[in-house]
Amino acid sequence: MSSKIVSGIRPTGNLHLGNYFGALRNFLKLQEENDCYFFIADYHGLTTHPTPENLQENVKQVLAEFVACGLDPDKATLYVQSDVPEAIELYLFFNMNAYLGELQRVTTFKEKARKQPNNVNAGLLTYPTLMAADILIHRASKVPVGKDQEQNLEMTRTFAKRFNHMYQTEYFPEPVAYNFGDELVKVPGLDGSGKMGKSEGFGNAIFLIDDEATIKKKIMKAKTDSGPTEKNSEMPDYIQNLFSLMDIVSETDTITQYKDAFADCSIRYGDMKKQLAADMNEFIAPFRDKIQSIVSNDELLSKIAKQGRDKARESAQRTIKEVRDIIGFKSI
Ligand code: TRP
Repeated sequence: MSSKIVSGIRPTGNLHLGNYFGALRNFLKLQEENDCYFFIADYHGLTTHPTPENLQENVKQVLAEFVACGLDPDKATLYVQSDVPEAIELYLFFNMNAYLGELQRVTTFKEKARKQPNNVNAGLLTYPTLMAADILIHRASKVPVGKDQEQNLEMTRTFAKRFNHMYQTEYFPEPVAYNFGDELVKVPGLDGSGKMGKSEGFGNAIFLIDDEATIKKKIMKAKTDSGPTEKNSEMPDYIQNLFSLMDIVSETDTITQYKDAFADCSIRYGDMKKQLAADMNEFIAPFRDKIQSIVSNDELLSKIAKQGRDKARESAQRTIKEVRDIIGFKSI
């Protein structure tokens, strides 16, 4: 059945292979059957005070990357958060019934406050009310986000319930996380420590815009050792990770060949990495080319942003009008 779905993406940098398999690929499926609102969370991005140039640049880049990956502005509503100021009015309403204690208890707030003790601003504190407004401005019931966002989503439900209770209405739904369960493909990073992530340092993540030389350099640097010395020995995690990446980008025959070579100790990790780099480049190339052509096409980007803005504002204005009415703001 079709649902209303909202998700926001912070414009913090380029998309990597982990983002693609972790979230985006599932957004592509969702957009086929649901009323999806995907937005670039540039208001949220302000909590860390980017420069105007960086902000604009990042928003454009993220939008181009989303579209290049297959998000379709004719299927989903694809917009920039700051293009829909109606959500900010809802943010204000929710803030009137959001309490200091509960906001201070949110784990992501506590973590941020610890990391940036000189910039514990009110925007950071009220991040969950803005997120609630992002979701409830479209009265969405499902939110495809990772486990780290569960507490923020719990707050969204709290604010929805509080509003409903206060005004004796059932206006807002209580949105739940949309779980992909087994459909998620885990993508390991190149440093051997776990998940692919950009914060782990240069070289851990393969970005969708990486060129051939960069991909090769990163993969050749991945941790290996001098190879197995006993037949059919257990595979170390960092070697397993390379095979997991191969699972994503290489042919089955190629993978089998290297697995057999591992089992009989004839494997040469240098050769395996060269193969992985070549296959990875082939996989990334179409994304890279598409991103480049879209990001340099200002006309196309602003057409996409406008299309999304119009659709999102229509939905947001409807909600705000009804909410004002419920609260008692009536023109006199
Ligand atoms: N907080 C989310 C994150 O850090 C981004 C986000 C902002 C979001 N508003 C949202 C996600 C609304 C889902 C719905 O990833």
